[in-house]
Amino acid sequence: MARTGTRIFSGVKPTGHLTLGNYLGAMRRWVDEDQHRADALFCVVDLHALTVDHDPARVRRLTRQAATLLLAAGLSQDRCTVFVQSHVDEHTRLAYLLECTATDAEMRRMIQYKEKAVRERAGSRSVRLSLLTYPALMAADILAYGTDEVPVGDDQAQHVELTRTLARRFNDRYGLVFTVPDATHPPVGARVMNLQDPRSKMGKSHAESSGIVYLLDEPDVMRRKIMRAVTDSGSEVAYDRTAQPGVANLLEILAACSGERPEDLAEGFGSYGALKKQTADAVVELLRPVRDRHAEISADPGYVEEVLRSGAERARALARPTVDAAYRAIGLLPPS
Ligand code: TYM
Repeated sequence: MARTGTRIFSGVKPTGHLTLGNYLGAMRRWVDEDQHRADALFCVVDLHALTVDHDPARVRRLTRQAATLLLAAGLSQDRCTVFVQSHVDEHTRLAYLLECTATDAEMRRMIQYKEKAVRERAGSRSVRLSLLTYPALMAADILAYGTDEVPVGDDQAQHVELTRTLARRFNDRYGLVFTVPDATHPPVGARVMNLQDPRSKMGKSHAESSGIVYLLDEPDVMRRKIMRAVTDSGSEVAYDRTAQPGVANLLEILAACSGERPEDLAEGFGSYGALKKQTADAVVELLRPVRDRHAEISADPGYVEEVLRSGAERARALARPTVDAAYRAIGLLPPS
């Protein structure tokens, strides 16, 4: 591929309001590091939001909100490409070829598929076929851009691993078309847990919101959620993910906010209350500029539209040659 430098791609799915988990696990690094050191693309992956029961108007609203939040968090049009997945047809064009590269057993092994299928069935909803094939579309998102690095939280590691497998398999069978990407994860904050249930991930589409800090929560709401976080029996503040998952989660959140190590922070607290208070203060201060900037940018929807329009144009031009090459390699007759 005629390109120098590192290419980075990552995305966020508009299935709910973005959370502190999305911010610490992914977005913050996109803003602080990735956009400055590489040719980076960040995508609101709206097609992925259609894999579970959805409300069309809500997906549209959340897509715009997610794009606005990415800009509010500090992604800059001058430094990176921000766009919406459904605006670039290359993603679905390539996804089909990757469905023809993957096996159904590989798809069925995905932890997120298993968990979400159980959730859909528990709500008496049928499981959409696209929930099963989702990782092929995610692989297409990544491979269409010749991506070297995929900055994500821990929960996406398995999907990126499958992407690597598919890229290698395609290249071996049909010729070298795809770059094999690596997942990268933040040192702390790669798996922020639900404050009310610290053994499960803080996910944006959870039904109960008291354990989830949303980026657009009012400061006093954030504070209340953190002060009411479930801690463990006992009173000593120690960093032990297995024995004290609630305390460990707070220490990791605080560490991710302050740039310290959770082990070191644990030594400085005599009570759970003090840990909660300091964590709440740190989260509120970390997210304050994002909330403020979101309010400013929302007042100018034309700006967001323009960023997304030019982002999609650039993304299309980057993806097209790779996807065309994959079509030729796999045996499809090019149109004359
Ligand atoms: P999504 O929308 O669930 O999450 C977006 C990003 O936030 C990270 N994340 C977390 N990190 C730490 N703790 C948490 N509690 C937490 N919750 C979410 C996720 O790991 C992710 O990095 N399938 C992806 C979207 C996607 C994508 C892609 C990502 C589609 N195509 C291509 C990278 C490259 C997803 O559902 O992310």
